[in-house]
Amino acid sequence: MKSSSISKYRPFPPVSLPDRTWPDQSITRAPIWCSVDLRDGNQALPTPMSIEEKLEYFDMLVRIGFTQIEVGFPSASDTEFHFVRRLIEENRIPENVTIQVLVQAREHLIQRSYESLKGVKQAIVHLYNPTSTLQRRVTFHNATREDTRAIAVQGAQWVAQYAALAPETEWTFQYSPESFSDTELDFALECCHAVMDVWQPTPEKKIILNLPNTVEWCLPNVHADQIEWMCRNIRDRDSVIISLHTHNDRGTGTAATELGLLAGADRVEGTLFGNGERTGNLDIVTVALNMNSHGIPTGLDFSDLASVRHVYERCCRLVVPERQPYAGELVFTAFSGSHQDAIKKGLDRRDQDRAASTEEVPWAVPYLTIDPQDIGRSYEAIIRINSQSGKGGVAYILDREHGLDLPKTMHPQVGKFIYDLADQWGREMSADEIGEAFHQHFANVTSPLDVTEYELIHLTDERGVVECRATIIHQGEPKQIVGRGNGPINAFVHALEGGGLKDFKVTDYRSHAVRGGSDASAAAYVQLQADDGRLLWGAGIDSSIEMAGLRALVSAWNLLHPANA
Ligand code: KIV
Ligand code: ZN
Repeated sequence: MKSSSISKYRPFPPVSLPDRTWPDQSITRAPIWCSVDLRDGNQALPTPMSIEEKLEYFDMLVRIGFTQIEVGFPSASDTEFHFVRRLIEENRIPENVTIQVLVQAREHLIQRSYESLKGVKQAIVHLYNPTSTLQRRVTFHNATREDTRAIAVQGAQWVAQYAALAPETEWTFQYSPESFSDTELDFALECCHAVMDVWQPTPEKKIILNLPNTVEWCLPNVHADQIEWMCRNIRDRDSVIISLHTHNDRGTGTAATELGLLAGADRVEGTLFGNGERTGNLDIVTVALNMNSHGIPTGLDFSDLASVRHVYERCCRLVVPERQPYAGELVFTAFSGSHQDAIKKGLDRRDQDRAASTEEVPWAVPYLTIDPQDIGRSYEAIIRINSQSGKGGVAYILDREHGLDLPKTMHPQVGKFIYDLADQWGREMSADEIGEAFHQHFANVTSPLDVTEYELIHLTDERGVVECRATIIHQGEPKQIVGRGNGPINAFVHALEGGGLKDFKVTDYRSHAVRGGSDASAAAYVQLQADDGRLLWGAGIDSSIEMAGLRALVSAWNLLHPANA
């Protein structure tokens, strides 16, 4: 912004609460959750959900574990009204779930809302009226505090009167001083007390006071002060449930909610993935999984987050951003080499610790706040390779995706080759492309030298000595070579020596069965040191472990003697 623009803005007034206690609190248990997807979320959609979509979404919210669901604004449209009717008439509301409807403080709207709820076993009727100075001055044409409080009181009376006409339903009343966070605190309290005078809550029959951060104008710590101030000053605190309803205009809806819980709130309203007016409502998925990541159960099950996201994206016609906490496509993916290396070490260490312990091993993997598998993500996507990636990431992909457990000292050579290739291509490489590049460049390299046949003879007169007879092709010329040694590799090295091809020494060797391969194959890795000091690894893959070793040696030899050098 230009400074000429900035001068029209004003600081947000802080709350005077020098003895605030919330900074010293911790979150130790989950709040009561209320999904407002089908009301606040839905009313913010360019194309609101159809009744069928709302029904599907409602079923999903129930499966996740929500026991309070704001289902709509039934007096606002026929769709909303008929949706509530279908829920009730088709017996779609489980015993443990309470639906909630929103209504303004206007009699015909309240009456219509009760009509929509006819026959429901239990329901929350949510009354609201805007209370902030700005709303009073602008929207309500300089309404006074008294005018505004009177609207709340009158609304509360109608809500109670119409409820009394349907005593077969178990009613809970909820009041929101809408735009609470920019309402003078003493006036918000006055409105809440005035409503309490009408509804007469008791510890057995509590009411919900929802304190909306309708527009997030202030820092989350200021919102926490507002909530603590209300929790301290509301009378009959044990007769009211204090509820948070944050929006995300400053991008801190999650922080405002979490600090609001520290400040004493009992309940949280929000939506999946934060759909809602403007920048959205609070994202309940984030707050709940944040709690899980600290070992706190929430009653909400996001173990198959991909399916939840799928229904959300289809019904809302919105897309969950790639960096959305927990749910975004890229949030468990590391491209950076040092992160990949640390994650690989963390996962390997965890596997070892778990194998060695009978107790639960606490989650502790660098860069991963939770185990992706706990929300239905696989490890496959964790490490992806582009030019920023390092040796650890490439080794991880070859290991987990292709069953090739490369020796540690081979990682830098292979890692550099692959990320140079990614740099050249200017894009990310898939796991298949990495496997293919590895096979082409490092494994079973056959030019300028190839080994086509071999025979190993265990000499009976010399214990432990084998003779290797091999057919090789060098620069297109077939040749028979023979050598003896104390193992196949050693014998083959002597055979190459006899053929005048030994200008190296073998410095390392290892082999293993290829994990998950379709046919039983073995992988071998041989490191050679050239007479000029260069060290290079090659790999061999074959159904015979011996041939895999010879191929690995030949691959390394070829890498030391590139055909066009
Ligand atoms: O954001 C808000 O203030 C609301 C109220 C109606 C609760 O959605
Ligand atoms: Zn809202």
